[in-house]
Amino acid sequence: MNEPDSSQTQFWTKRWEAGKMPWDLGGIPPSLVEFLKTNRPVTQVLIPGCGSGYEVQAFHAAGHDATAIEFSAPAVERARAVLGPLADRVIHGNFFKTDLGTNRFGIVYERGFLCSLPPARWPEYAAHMADLLVPGGLLAGLFLYGNEPEPPPYPLTLESAQQLFGSRFRLLDDAESSAPSVPVYQGMEHWQTWQKI
Ligand SMILES: C[S@@+](CC[C@H](N)C(=O)[O-])C[C@H]1O[C@@H](n2cnc3c(N)ncnc32)[C@H](O)[C@@H]1O
Repeated sequence: MNEPDSSQTQFWTKRWEAGKMPWDLGGIPPSLVEFLKTNRPVTQVLIPGCGSGYEVQAFHAAGHDATAIEFSAPAVERARAVLGPLADRVIHGNFFKTDLGTNRFGIVYERGFLCSLPPARWPEYAAHMADLLVPGGLLAGLFLYGNEPEPPPYPLTLESAQQLFGSRFRLLDDAESSAPSVPVYQGMEHWQTWQKI
């Protein structure tokens, strides 16, 4: 079967334009609220493939300096509208191509981005994440595990995650999330914190 190429902007723009965003939670995931309660040192945070970008506000409210990147124009428009005074925190660009200069991040937040990418792009994702994080920095968020007969989303398995991250990251935290989520992700989400070695 020919799968659509979800690494292309057009794939996502079609969905945003049609208002078909089954991944959109409409707010902050409860696991992120818990993570932010743990009083982390203030740092620079990157949110790639941010969609509506709700989490920018959550990181900002916790004192962090949050930047989001999104490559689909209608999604960028939506995130900027959602974020109001924080609209300028959203960069319209491709995560893999945007030059972030010498900026290195203490936290990169993941939700719905890795699983949006065809697995052939995953090694590039892992390498770029490692480049963008400071030593000891965290790739933290909700990762999907399980089976999906009609991807995307493309879920991980324990083996593929280890293969992908094992050489550059150590897994600090892994908790299956039972919090209410969107139907397409429910029961598949794990809150994980991968620390750059
Ligand atoms: C499944 S949605 C998840 C959105 C958001 N993270 C959330 O949790 O609601 C994936 C998003 O990633 C964006 N995206 C995919 N590949 C991208 C890339 N290479 N650079 C920037 N954004 C990308 C898509 O446009 C889409 O809005």
